[in-house]
Amino acid sequence: MKNIVLVGFMGTGKTTIGRLLADKLSMPFIDMDREIEQQTHKSIPEIFADEGEAHFRSLERALVKKLANQEGQIISTGGGIVLQPENISDFEKTGLVCCLHARPECLLQRLEQDSSRPLLSGDKAEQIKALLAQRHDLYHAIKWGIHTDDKRPEEIAEEIYTTYLSAS
Ligand code: S3P
Repeated sequence: MKNIVLVGFMGTGKTTIGRLLADKLSMPFIDMDREIEQQTHKSIPEIFADEGEAHFRSLERALVKKLANQEGQIISTGGGIVLQPENISDFEKTGLVCCLHARPECLLQRLEQDSSRPLLSGDKAEQIKALLAQRHDLYHAIKWGIHTDDKRPEEIAEEIYTTYLSAS
């Protein structure tokens, strides 16, 4: 069984949808951020503050290499996974990669109260706008994209589930 790899900006619902898919398919769910926190015994904000973003990206890269070598998993990635394009090409070898999209207003609403994302520690509206602009082409380069704005997580999970089964 191929992996299902969920990619997309912070707040697009990767973790929620990933858990629903893991239940539907009885497959293990891996949340890359939680995995990195367990490995390092640090939270994501602590890793960014102590070692910097570049170090976090190298931890992500190492984990992608490991996960892309295994099959039958539902993987929720961190929003910056697209910054190293080899992450996506590695995941595509053993999995279906799906990018979740959402409008900036919708992301702001979902992330407004959040304090766990180091890249959104200032003016959230401005930071979301700037990061989305920087990453626009990287997210849109992923062939399979789903717009999440007006859909419930269950509907999106069902859509991914159906596509996955027909592709397997
Ligand atoms: C990041 C997204 C976060 C986390 C880190 C950096 C990003 O993951 O990996 O804060 O660069 O977009 P989520 O997308 O799960 O919030």
